Amino acid sequence: MSFKKILVGYDGSQSSKKALEKAIVLAKVCGSELHIVGVVRPFEFAAIDYISPEEIEEYEKEEVSKEERFLKEAKEIAQEKGINAVTKVREGEPAEELMSYADENGCDLIVVGHRGVGGFKRMILGTTAGNLVKYANQSVLVVK
Ligand SMILES: Nc1ncnc2c1ncn2[C@@H]1O[C@H](COP(=O)(O)OP(=O)(O)OP(=O)(O)O)[C@@H](O)[C@H]1O
Ligand SMILES: [Mg+2]
Repeated sequence: MSFKKILVGYDGSQSSKKALEKAIVLAKVCGSELHIVGVVRPFEFAAIDYISPEEIEEYEKEEVSKEERFLKEAKEIAQEKGINAVTKVREGEPAEELMSYADENGCDLIVVGHRGVGGFKRMILGTTAGNLVKYANQSVLVVK
């Protein structure tokens, strides 16, 4: 089995770091391109009385630059292993964005961790990972 373009969903969590490590090994074995994507969720309005558009914009900018830092670190990890990865930040719902990125860029494998930054410790499978397994057009590797 061989993969041409591997997509890793990277949210900076320990679990996504582990997924990245596995994806790097696979990419080396298969000679695949490696794409590392981080998705920033839009600001959630729930339970907040009033917040100005400027504050929302500020918040979203911070989230994007935080994700850019994660991706820079991920790219360096890949670089150390001799893989020149493509990185990209997208905004939206994580599973949806990862799926459309994979479709648009012809990725043939999606690699994610089983948990991310948001979940409870007891959770075995986060919602992003679960939705990818259920709905993605590509094979999905959930790293534990
Ligand atoms: N925003 C994101 N951008 C890129 N990849 C992500 C993102 N969120 C999750 N992933 C990928 O999916 C894996 C599983 O995370 P997931 O979001 O499913 O679990 P969780 O955060 O623990 O739970 P939940 O999001 O349901 O509260 C992560 O290890 C990472 O590989
Ligand atoms: Mg999550």
